[in-house]
Amino acid sequence: MSHSGQPTPLESRASSALRGTVRVPGDKSISHRALILGALAVGETRISGLLEGEDVLNTAKAMQALGAKVERTRTGIWSVHGVGVGGFAAPDNPLDFGNSGTGCRLAMGAVAGCPIAATFDGDASLRSRPMRRILDPLELMGAKVSSSADGGRLPMTLQGARDPLPVVYRTPVASAQIKSAVLLAGLSAPGVTTVIEQEASRDHTELMMAHFGATIVSENEGPHGRKISLTGQPELHGANVVVPADPSSAAFPIVAALIVPGSDVVLTDVMTNPLRTGLFTTLREMGASIEESDVRGDTGEPMARFRVCGSRLRGVTVPPERAPSMIDEYLVLAVAAAYAEGVTTMRGLQELRVKESDRLEATADMLRVNGVKVEIVGDDMIVEGKGHVAGSGLVATHMDHRIAMSALVMGLAADSPVKIDDTTFIATSFPDFIPMMRELGADFS
Ligand code: S3P
Repeated sequence: MSHSGQPTPLESRASSALRGTVRVPGDKSISHRALILGALAVGETRISGLLEGEDVLNTAKAMQALGAKVERTRTGIWSVHGVGVGGFAAPDNPLDFGNSGTGCRLAMGAVAGCPIAATFDGDASLRSRPMRRILDPLELMGAKVSSSADGGRLPMTLQGARDPLPVVYRTPVASAQIKSAVLLAGLSAPGVTTVIEQEASRDHTELMMAHFGATIVSENEGPHGRKISLTGQPELHGANVVVPADPSSAAFPIVAALIVPGSDVVLTDVMTNPLRTGLFTTLREMGASIEESDVRGDTGEPMARFRVCGSRLRGVTVPPERAPSMIDEYLVLAVAAAYAEGVTTMRGLQELRVKESDRLEATADMLRVNGVKVEIVGDDMIVEGKGHVAGSGLVATHMDHRIAMSALVMGLAADSPVKIDDTTFIATSFPDFIPMMRELGADFS
C-alpha cells in the first residue's frame, strides 16, 4: 500500500495525568511470521490478535498472491491455508510491501526457496533501503536477482532456486531480518542450514518454526551470539498462533506515562521475549516505575501486564550490545532521555541509519527543533536531559511511523506544543495510536 494522499499534520500538547488500561495491537514481527509460515505450511493456520496495520496487511496480500488462501473471519481470527514448503506459485503482479522492510525481506527469503520469479516493490522509503544484505546469502543458496534498481534496491525481480543449497552463514550485522530470510529459504534446502550471529537478534522465526513442526536448534555462540541450525525440508503443519501485544508499540504509551506527571497506565498482554525488552531494562535503570504482573506464555512467547507511573528519570549509558533487543525503541528512548536529568549516551546505533528513515539523524533533528541538546558522535547518540522539553518545533517524520509517534509523545509534557508534519505512516504499525492515546488523556489536536 503506497501513500499518495495529502500529509496530515498534528499537534501534541502538555496533557494532564494519563490514566487507563489499554492493549496495544499485536506484535508486528510475530504477525508477519505467522502469515508467512502459515502460507508455507500444509493445512490451516489460525491467527488471533494479528496486527491489522498496513505493513502486515501487505504481507497478507503477498502470501495470497503467492498461492496461499488468507482470510479474516468475522470474529477477527485470520485463517491461512498454506501451499507447503517450496510450493509458492509465481505471482501475476509485483508484490507491494509498502513501507515494510520486514515483510519484504522475509518474503524474499521464502521466495528464494521456491522455483518461481517474483517482483518486489515498496514505497519511496522502502525503495531507498539496502537489500544486498539479504541477497548475499540468498544468492549463495541459489537464488538470482534478474533485475533491480541501482545499488540492488527495489523494485527487484528475484528468481528463486530450483534446488536450494543449505549454507552456514555468519550474518555481518545483528539482524533478525537477515537471519529469518536465510532460515525461510533454508526450509526448502536439503540438510542443515545454519545461521551464526555475533549478537543475538529477536528469535521469533526460530520459535515459530518449531511451533509449526520444524527441527531447529539454537545454541549460544560467544558472549552475546547464537548459532541456529534448521533441518531442511520439514513437513510444516498449520498451527494456532496467539499474537501478544507489541512491546515496540507499547513503548509509546509507556514513555508517555513516564514523562507526564501523575500518570498511571496499565498495558495488558505485552510480549516480554527477552530479545525484545532492552527498552524496559533501560527505562528501569533510568528510574522508571514499571511493574510487571500476570506473567504467562504462549508458543514460547511470554507476555505480562505492565503498570507504568509518572517517574523522575535520570540519564544513563546504554551499552552497544543491548541494541538488537531495542533497535526500534531508541527514538522514544531519546524522548525519555530528553525529560531525564543528566546525559544519556546510547552506543552502537549504526543500524538506525538504514531503517524506515535515517533514524539517527531524524531523531536528533526531532529533539533539536524542540530545544533539546543532542550530539551524534560516530554511531553514538548523546542526549542532554534537562528534566523538561521546550517544544514548539515542527518535526519532519520522513515516512517513518516511529518518528511520528515519538514526537507526539514528546509533546505531551513539553512547555509548548510539538507539531509533526504527517501522521499518515502511523497506520503501518499502530493504526489506533491516536484514539488510544486520546483515551488515556493525550491532548492531540
Ligand atoms: C524486525 C527486525 C528488526 C526491526 C524490524 C523488525 C523483524 O530489523 O528493526 O522493525 O521482525 O525481524 P533488523 O533485524 O534488520 O535489525
